[in-house]
Amino acid sequence: MTSLSHVGSSDLAVDLGTTNTRVYVPGVGVALDEPSVIAMDVRDKAVLAVGRAAKVMIGRVPQSVHVISPLRRGVIAEVNATREMLRHFLRTVVGRWHVLQPRMAVVVPHGTTQVEKRAVEELGRSVGARKVYLIEEPIAAALGAGLPVAAPGAHTVVNIGGGTTEVAVMSLSGIVGCESMRIGGDDLDEAIIQHIRKGHSLLIGTRQAEELKLAMGSTLLLGGEVGDGPFIHEVKGRNLLNGLPRSIGVSVHELREALHEPMTAFLDAVRACLERTPPEWPDGRWRTPRFFARWPSRPEDEQK
Ligand SMILES: Nc1ncnc2c1ncn2[C@@H]1O[C@H](COP(=O)(O)OP(=O)(O)O)[C@@H](O)[C@H]1O
Ligand SMILES: [Mg+2]
Repeated sequence: MTSLSHVGSSDLAVDLGTTNTRVYVPGVGVALDEPSVIAMDVRDKAVLAVGRAAKVMIGRVPQSVHVISPLRRGVIAEVNATREMLRHFLRTVVGRWHVLQPRMAVVVPHGTTQVEKRAVEELGRSVGARKVYLIEEPIAAALGAGLPVAAPGAHTVVNIGGGTTEVAVMSLSGIVGCESMRIGGDDLDEAIIQHIRKGHSLLIGTRQAEELKLAMGSTLLLGGEVGDGPFIHEVKGRNLLNGLPRSIGVSVHELREALHEPMTAFLDAVRACLERTPPEWPDGRWRTPRFFARWPSRPEDEQK
């Protein structure tokens, strides 16, 4: 990426997510992808860490340090903390790519109120944006996935976040129907934790569970996999029988078992949501939704 440091631009796009923040720079791609977490000193509000560095501090800091996720369900819950976090993130990006007083597109969840929108615009300006444009998340997700949202006909996107999932049907660049569900990638992590606890009397943390999911979580048979599958991923945790640390290898097959239940619940929720969408679409294309997480960093995920 350093070879791209000469790229000058006055535009940025920001996905200020509840779980992760991503900053996109035209010509560069995703220039920053960090957890939406900030660690601050309780007494003087000094910023101690942001992003990944702050996330690893969760549960490991004295009372004088606050480690928080300043957004809730995509909406700014703690204004000052969000501003400080974004300012630190942008400093990294701006320093590296010389983006000065950018025009900034910021993604907001569908259904964001006027007051919440104004808060995002103010936030953008307070961190140095010359102009702030708001884009509704499902539209941004669809554009990121390369769907022809401006074309007539219905286009459905299922945008999976950490704690919430949005199912949106779009046509002619507008949102025809959208529903948000309180189910997301974190629920898959939780299911993995429970499965390993029951099957191996091993307690693993959420970070280990997410790693496992990202490394080889699947609901389909993977290429080259036979029976129990050649894919094994090691996880470390605490043996619940004697309290000592222990590692085990988890197979892709076992992981699929762990994910079966939450994935079924997930699909049921999406199906129920689609059933509430008006059925009068001429081509019925909405019945084949496209799934992906993480806009806009991994458009290739959408293929999976
Ligand atoms: N490649 C991937 N495959 C499956 N899940 C993923 C992948 N990358 C990220 N996730 C999951 O997506 C969720 C975060 O999505 P994100 O859009 O960053 O969240 P939010 O919109 O809540 O900020 C997490 O549960 C994370 O584990
Ligand atoms: Mg998201």
